[in-house]
Amino acid sequence: MTEPRRIDVCGTADVGVGGTRRVETGGLTLALYNVDGSFYATDDHCTHGPGSLSEGELFGFEIECDFHQGCFDVRTGEVTAPPCMIPIKTYAVIVEGDRVMVEI
Ligand code: FES
Repeated sequence: MTEPRRIDVCGTADVGVGGTRRVETGGLTLALYNVDGSFYATDDHCTHGPGSLSEGELFGFEIECDFHQGCFDVRTGEVTAPPCMIPIKTYAVIVEGDRVMVEI
């Protein structure tokens, strides 16, 4: 198994509290979330269809896909509202100073 790579994806100020941001890195398209100053990352592509989770709305720890309003917990990737059925992949996020790093 290969060790995860830590990639600098943006500054902490680039994702406002309650906000989302799409990041393309290492061949992946990720959605970053800022929940009360804590950062989380998942795949951006909704497991249900063509939705982009970085374009969805964040309610606390839940991201609502703007396509069919399915929801995921950004901490665990678990589905919290249908029609989604398959969890979303999550990634570890590390904040170093004012930089946000994702392990992929
Ligand atoms: S594409 Fe995301 S809920 Fe359907």
